[in-house]
Amino acid sequence: MTAAPSNRRVFLIGFMGAGKTSVGKALAQRLNWEFRDLDRVIEAREHKTVAQIFADSGETGFRKAECAALEDLLANSARGKWIIALGGGAFVQPRNRTALQQSGAITVLLEAPLHELKRRVSADGIARPLAQDEAKFAELFESRRAAYAAAQFRIETTGKRVDEVAAEIRELLSAVERPEVKQ
Ligand code: S3P
Repeated sequence: MTAAPSNRRVFLIGFMGAGKTSVGKALAQRLNWEFRDLDRVIEAREHKTVAQIFADSGETGFRKAECAALEDLLANSARGKWIIALGGGAFVQPRNRTALQQSGAITVLLEAPLHELKRRVSADGIARPLAQDEAKFAELFESRRAAYAAAQFRIETTGKRVDEVAAEIRELLSAVERPEVKQ
């Protein structure tokens, strides 16, 4: 019998409105693991909101801050058990994707169709600089498919409650721990 690993990191990936933060919080609570949201880590490091970073430094400045925050987060989560929600663009940056793949973390893509993501984003009231323009939102959604496909696992979230999606990920994690399905 193999001992359960002492470090586990599960990164939730997906487009804006996929439910990464709400599912991540619910999952971490169920498992009694730590939870971090990369956007909140960025805001704490920069002393600015995501919207302010975009306004002051553009998307390029935001991506730099995002990359640095992810590096820090990876270094600081090498012990213990963590659920980490990424912003929608973080996994799209090749450097971040490589860092995550090399870290041995588990990556789970939360999926929903474009119309559902649009509905959730307009309902949750969060200021998202890249969700202001409908055509750009749709274009981004298409352009990110290939990068998101590199996630190890994917879960469809349409029509499911937050706790149902969290329960599905929990099942998946216990399956990953079982030796016969170990990757
Ligand atoms: C972004 C998504 C946002 C946030 C930033 C950029 C993106 O996070 O990181 O506004 O590029 O998709 P959420 O996916 O949590 O909305």
